[in-house]
Amino acid sequence: MPLISTTPMLEQAKREKYGIVAFNVHSLDSIYWVLEAAAEMKSPVILQTTVGTVKSLGAENIVKVATAAADFYQVPTGLHLDHCTDYEVIKKAIRAGYTSVMIDASKHPFAENVQQTKQVMDLAASLGVNVEAELGKVGGVEEEVVVSEKDAQKAVPEECEEFVALTGVPTLAPAIGTAHGIYKGEPNIDFDRIEEISKLVDIPLVLHGGSAVPEEDVRKCVALGMSKVNVSTELKNAYSVAIREHFAAQPNSLDPRAYLQTAKEAAKEMVISKIKIVGSEGRISPLTIK
Ligand code: 13P
Repeated sequence: MPLISTTPMLEQAKREKYGIVAFNVHSLDSIYWVLEAAAEMKSPVILQTTVGTVKSLGAENIVKVATAAADFYQVPTGLHLDHCTDYEVIKKAIRAGYTSVMIDASKHPFAENVQQTKQVMDLAASLGVNVEAELGKVGGVEEEVVVSEKDAQKAVPEECEEFVALTGVPTLAPAIGTAHGIYKGEPNIDFDRIEEISKLVDIPLVLHGGSAVPEEDVRKCVALGMSKVNVSTELKNAYSVAIREHFAAQPNSLDPRAYLQTAKEAAKEMVISKIKIVGSEGRISPLTIK
């Protein structure tokens, strides 16, 4: 089974009112862990990488491994480039086989964001590659993208409507009060704003900063049309803690299969819990199940 565009996947999720989790992966092993868990849940899934991960692992390697794993586990899988600010990197990712890309021009004024997004749409749309853009500014740290609390800015619903009309993007990430990373306090999600945006914009929305958001809040966001839910920090934490605990108990451990197995188990548990929250369990067409 080849990697698939996230556009029909997210449109179906929006219509049927469930969410798709996009898991940030940081190693080639973790691609297998996520897809094995998704296969057990019979759930479609999105793998996503930051530009930093592309630099560290190579876009071609990521595409090859993701394709092989999607085929092995028979899971409908999209591969997304997260938070990219560089048109050249987007071009390379699409050429390598990414099925979805984010052009993050949210730090620029509205007109510049429109212009950069249109440029990526010109490249991607005819190839069936999904494009995600961001409006407002999501706070927190996502590798190279750092937005302080005071610079975080919620998206303006009327601007979302105008932005989608001008660019034709199939997916939009409006900032609505979540932040990347683990929260110090409770996230302050503006549900009224999501509802207003959803009324004006008839495309799947994206929830950034999905880690450490209370389950009920994630469900509410999905019900209001946030069909893609991004999770990075919690997944990374889960397997890093497992590896740390392994070495705390066995400081002289030498066998990568042993500590990677504990990492895999922790990662799978996290993936399964997130899939259950967004309601994508059992959403794989019976035709694709082995
Ligand atoms: P978290 O690290 O908060 O899960 O955010 C992930 C994200 O939004 C990636 O774009």
